[in-house]
Amino acid sequence: MTNPMADFDRLVQSWQDIPGWFNWRDGQEEAAAHFGDGDRFVEVGCYLGRSICSLADVVAGRGLEVDIVGVDTALGSGPEGRRNTNAHSHAVQHGGGTMAGLLHRNVLACGFADHVQLIISDSVRASRLFPDQSVAWVHLDARHDYASVCEDIDAWLPKVRRGGWLTGDDYDQWQWPGVVRAVGDRLEGATPWCTSQWRWIKSF
Ligand SMILES: C[S@@+](CC[C@H](N)C(=O)[O-])C[C@H]1O[C@@H](n2cnc3c(N)ncnc32)[C@H](O)[C@@H]1O
Repeated sequence: MTNPMADFDRLVQSWQDIPGWFNWRDGQEEAAAHFGDGDRFVEVGCYLGRSICSLADVVAGRGLEVDIVGVDTALGSGPEGRRNTNAHSHAVQHGGGTMAGLLHRNVLACGFADHVQLIISDSVRASRLFPDQSVAWVHLDARHDYASVCEDIDAWLPKVRRGGWLTGDDYDQWQWPGVVRAVGDRLEGATPWCTSQWRWIKSF
């Protein structure tokens, strides 16, 4: 029998070594080309750091000076989706009830201790730490049910600066109908973006 915990003990040297589902690096490359020095990016929902370490790698590759902030409860999303899967439970169990240690270790192992700030917190509570209009790009990838995505959008939309982006993962009517419905209900003008993502650009 395979040990589901073994994956978490593997050596991590770059974002590709980190377990996760991230597959839209082209979107991060577009963001890094679009935004500039002094901007701030926030990722809500980091799991073990695969996507945020890729982002830090893309940013470093362009020589950009931006703040990259990750927000996660480190408690997992719980059961969700069509099969009510608890996708993060093994990682939470591995850390004795929190993924914070693994997430932080992975950021350090990738060499991004000075480039990625982690906030271990609920999304809505963390949003209150940021002044309105202070973030160039907020990416939402926490819980994917309708109510949670609406709450995240409502909390983070005021934080995005004019011309900034609010984006999110799993824009997929079959797998995650709550994401598609929440984005449609809350964000007029949001469009599908790179691989299974959505994007809304703030014009005010
Ligand atoms: C789909 S995973 C993120 C995957 C990650 N972006 C990647 O691609 O590697 C969702 C994450 O959201 C976090 N999460 C769920 N609800 C949250 C909330 N209310 N506030 C902050 N984080 C939350 C979970 O702990 C989990 O790590």
